[in-house]
Amino acid sequence: IEARLADGPLAGKRIVVTSGPTHEPIDPVRYIANRSSGAQGTALARALAGLGAEVVFVTGPATVPPPEGVTVILVETAQQMLAAVQGALPADAAVFAAAVADWRVANAADQKMKKDGTGAAPALEFAENPDILATVAQMGTGRPALVVGFAAETENIADHATAKRARKGCDWIVANDVSPGTGIMGGAENEVTLITANGAETWPRLGKAQVADRLAARIATALGQGV
Ligand code: CTP
Ligand code: CA
Repeated sequence: IEARLADGPLAGKRIVVTSGPTHEPIDPVRYIANRSSGAQGTALARALAGLGAEVVFVTGPATVPPPEGVTVILVETAQQMLAAVQGALPADAAVFAAAVADWRVANAADQKMKKDGTGAAPALEFAENPDILATVAQMGTGRPALVVGFAAETENIADHATAKRARKGCDWIVANDVSPGTGIMGGAENEVTLITANGAETWPRLGKAQVADRLAARIATALGQGV
């Protein structure tokens, strides 16, 4: 099977995709993370490559293996992910499917932290991570023609995602319901609301590969029309 179609609708288009969680160190042997498996971002990168795109896949430590037929850049932290994305530009489109840690540990230790014998626990201090999506969406020159974010929400999905689209300055938001009951975070399916300049569209609950195919087709249509 050809992972990348030489004559597909995305042939000649370069697309950066972020995926997976990030790991934020506490000390050399410990980190803060989240439950993202990287499944949706991986499926999307595979679908885009399948339509002929040249995909640069910037991924944190995901549970699922990266797809064939893409350039893989492995990172751990949000700061590394931002640098990798900036290094991968320019691109025709950028899709931010990663579950980036919102905060990193500001007082991470250079050596393994040790118990001091008194029963006292260390106090972690947090600093906000750079917003990779907003940084790229708000670039002056060199902004990809199509910038797509994801939004993990647990309530009022369309409202929160519409506000997020405006705040970030991106073109589309793919909103998903990550309430614990849905089984979407780490699961095989996704239930998506797509927010564009024209409003909100709710898609049926689909397998992550089907969501990816549908989204990749939409991206191909948009890039084909010059966005
Ligand atoms: N994102 C990013 N860099 C960050 C945080 C988020 O690139 N530091 C991207 C995600 O990849 C996703 C989008 O921004 O495409 C929205 O992520 P989300 O966590 O839903 O939004 P936040 O802005 O972090 O808001 P909150 O978690 O507080 O709802
Ligand atoms: Ca967040």
